[in-house]
Amino acid sequence: MPGRRILLVVGGGIAAYKCLELIRRGRERGLTFRCVTTRAAEQFVTPLALESLSGHRVWRDLFALGEEAEMGHIRLSRDADLVVVAPATADLLAKMANGHADDLASTLLLATDKPVLAAPAMNPRMWEHPATRRNVAQLRTDGVAFVGPEPGELACGEQGFGRMAEPQAILEAIEALLAPRAKPLAGVRALVTSGPTHEPIDPVRYLANRSSGRQGHAIAAALAEAGAEVELVTGPVALADPPGVRTEHVETAREMLERCLDALPVDVAVCAAAVCDWRPARTAASKLKKEEGCPPPVLELEENPDILRTLATHPRSRPRLVIGFAAETGDVLAMARSKLARKNCDWILANDVSPGSGVFGGERNRILWLRRDGTIEAWPELDKLEVGRRLAKLIAEELGGARA
Ligand code: C5P
Repeated sequence: MPGRRILLVVGGGIAAYKCLELIRRGRERGLTFRCVTTRAAEQFVTPLALESLSGHRVWRDLFALGEEAEMGHIRLSRDADLVVVAPATADLLAKMANGHADDLASTLLLATDKPVLAAPAMNPRMWEHPATRRNVAQLRTDGVAFVGPEPGELACGEQGFGRMAEPQAILEAIEALLAPRAKPLAGVRALVTSGPTHEPIDPVRYLANRSSGRQGHAIAAALAEAGAEVELVTGPVALADPPGVRTEHVETAREMLERCLDALPVDVAVCAAAVCDWRPARTAASKLKKEEGCPPPVLELEENPDILRTLATHPRSRPRLVIGFAAETGDVLAMARSKLARKNCDWILANDVSPGSGVFGGERNRILWLRRDGTIEAWPELDKLEVGRRLAKLIAEELGGARA
């Protein structure tokens, strides 16, 4: 990796000493390092040591005017090829996940437009705390890459996950992120639906479902990462728009269908949204009132358009590849097979969403991949982004010849 520039944000943890080794080994491989320390980091490693090993001054203070004149924090955050946060303490991860910018390290992490790699290090209890789990999940969704932590005995004497990855492992992760990524979907136009839909009953109430949108968003991100031009049409979700993806926000199934039809023609459509099958036949113009002595209102439902089926049977602009999801409880395979035929799609990704499967809202998924020719492949349990990457690879193979 000769000549690639790393901006190393050193957090305040005992593992900070490993950064010295990281810089030494990295420079041997031709990487250059500029270091930023948090105030706490300097309790564990001296700026002088970082300066001596990196060969560059260390940036420490957001408000040092001289430094701002020389190199503003915005430029500092963008003049690198990769930002590495090591050790990524629980506090630094929390700041990153929530967009804080109250010192130089957190400000440049918010301002950067470069990939970010975090090497967490903390007490195992802190790593397992729900707050840290939430922050890490959010950061993964935001596209931050992670290396470690590793299991073992920690400086605090406790056992568990929390040791920072070794410099060698961090360097390997750096090299993997900096390696030129294959763009097997360059020139491919993709449409992805994601999330639930909300079907209004009155101005304050709606019908919906438990979809978090995580799988659909991860697929959109993975297709974009593979070079596709992606349009994501999403129902209401509590997720950030994936980087590099044109994202349209809708509420109802009918709005989702309209946006999808506007997006045609596309080469591939992936319908990962959990579209409500029905909507209230009438939406009340004002809030339905609970009247003393009156029976509860009866909800009459009518069917929503089937977006997947509409795209898969489009008379003029059927995408070359139409992919649906079958989120089922019970006999997943049988239901997925019948869906494949009924909806005229090419592939179905089926998964079990029974209570306890952890799929809805979780970070992982276990997929059965069914194709029209009858072949079935069971994928191992994977991170939702890895499901997206696997799918992107298969789409690239399938569309291989179609782009020329
Ligand atoms: O029929 P069912 O909802 O189980 O089918 C699931 C698949 O169909 C998913 O790919 C989902 O995105 C799609 N679908 C759709 N429009 C609907 C209902 C389902 O696109 N109205």
